[in-house]
Amino acid sequence: MNIRAQLESRLSQALSAAIAEEAPAIVQPSANPKFGDYQANGVMAAARRMKRNPRELAEQVLEKLDLSDLAESVEVAGPGFINITLSAGVLADAVMRADAEARLDVPALGAGRTVVVDYSSPNLAKEMHVGHLRSTIIGDSLARVLAFLGCNVIRQNHVGDWGTQFGMLIAFFEEQRERGIGDLSIADMEAFYRQAKKRFDEDEAFAERARRTVVRLQGGDPKVNADWREILHQSLAHCRQVYDLLGVSLTDADIRGESAYNDVLPDVVAALDAAGLLTESQGAQCVFLDDDAFRGSEGEPVPVIVRKSDGGYLYATTDLAALRYRCRTLGATRILYATDARQAFHFAQIFAVARAAGFAGPEVSLEHVPFGVMLNEAGRPFKTREGGTIKLADLLNEAVQRAAAVVAEKNPDLPADQAARVARAVGIGAVKYADLSMDRTSDYKFSFDRMLSLQGNTAPYMQYAYARVQSIFRKGAETLGDLAGRAVILGETAEKELAKRLSRFEEVLAAVASESRPNILTGYLYDLAGAFSGFYETCPVLKADDATRASRLRLCDVTARTIRQGLELLGIEVIEQM
Ligand code: ARG
Repeated sequence: MNIRAQLESRLSQALSAAIAEEAPAIVQPSANPKFGDYQANGVMAAARRMKRNPRELAEQVLEKLDLSDLAESVEVAGPGFINITLSAGVLADAVMRADAEARLDVPALGAGRTVVVDYSSPNLAKEMHVGHLRSTIIGDSLARVLAFLGCNVIRQNHVGDWGTQFGMLIAFFEEQRERGIGDLSIADMEAFYRQAKKRFDEDEAFAERARRTVVRLQGGDPKVNADWREILHQSLAHCRQVYDLLGVSLTDADIRGESAYNDVLPDVVAALDAAGLLTESQGAQCVFLDDDAFRGSEGEPVPVIVRKSDGGYLYATTDLAALRYRCRTLGATRILYATDARQAFHFAQIFAVARAAGFAGPEVSLEHVPFGVMLNEAGRPFKTREGGTIKLADLLNEAVQRAAAVVAEKNPDLPADQAARVARAVGIGAVKYADLSMDRTSDYKFSFDRMLSLQGNTAPYMQYAYARVQSIFRKGAETLGDLAGRAVILGETAEKELAKRLSRFEEVLAAVASESRPNILTGYLYDLAGAFSGFYETCPVLKADDATRASRLRLCDVTARTIRQGLELLGIEVIEQM
């Protein structure tokens, strides 16, 4: 159990004993070392509820508490806080355990859990644009953290590979072919889509043909299906390129698009009917949920339409089918959906219908992981100068180019191939880190200058911090084998502050996983790098006497490995030499 969890459990027991009723102690890391290493805030709420004096209650909790094996001091402070200062020995042990263990002593907290992470999920008729970036980055990081914690993670790329837009594209394709242009290679998916759309808007005969093509596609017409497959093929090849460039862990095996559920949609509607949930409204099959959360601006109930009057199915129907599949076939105990916040209402409805229909049992946690939109530096929607959408590939390539300039300035002597590798790691890392370090629910302003800065909470800063620790080893030419078994001794305050951070890695990852918030991890890494700087400024490493040198090198080692592991969980590469 991590230190915070041990404190939480023991303090909660003492508090519950003091008021003869269950109460959480709410132990958190102290914001300021003045208030010890951890602080329990739960006494005040308990005192209010019991109409007791909080300070007196806190004193009573202390009487029931024995933390002598963990803490150096435990004190009541302010209106009823309990401040805990850990003993140096406990922290030193934590560092030594982390150093001795490949996983930095993080246990497989998630073992036995199957978590489906639905992310990226672009609509395939178009090229990936900046709107797909956040889902891809945030979802990927969450999948990595959950997998590291031992969960059985199933990634699901719920691509939009079905729907009326394909009728339009295929009809355009056929037309091109008849005219002898178009060799079925869509070099520029976006331009292809634009041209098809233009034809669709300008020519009613073409629009009619596009609509008929949808019907032919749905009816299984082999020619139309071959074209559809070709479009998907080209489009997915493009996605793959973006994923490669981004270094995300999605593979082809993770793709299960909307079309995969086509055959079961009638059955989903039948199941809703059997559960007594369907109402017909103007020829459409609808689910009305009796809940104030699902009312429109005028107080009118907003139904989930699952089948249109023309027999067509909708985004919601497919999502219900996917949800049922994930629970029943994949055995999910938790499903995360990383999409922008505008889909919050959609998911709230889907979750409620799925529960009512019994598609998801009460043991399954269904969670929308919403995020805000990406804005430009002026705080406006992120668009090209002409007002078009910015292609993701272009944006990422620009990040790498700009990073190359930063690298060239910082280290002009780096051999070209190494410089290129570093530029890629820094450029892509910067884009990812900037996104992940934000509170995901807020909109965020995309700024190359800020994200590529070597100062502040950025990827280059963290990558640089890592490289700096590594350089200490290079200078010391120490092999880690020499250090195994050497004691970690925390004499200086700065050493203790660093060790305290290191001992928190597990609790940080647990929080990222439960709250689906990667910014907890970036905040932690930044704080850790700061503590390392403080340590390195006041505590000589290579010039210290033998025992101190060994102890400090071990602190350096755990720091480097924690940063590397942390960045890896964010999907960011480290660089040995910058
Ligand atoms: N394709 C959708 C879009 O681009 C996102 C799909 C998200 N996942 C889901 N299961 N609905 O908006």
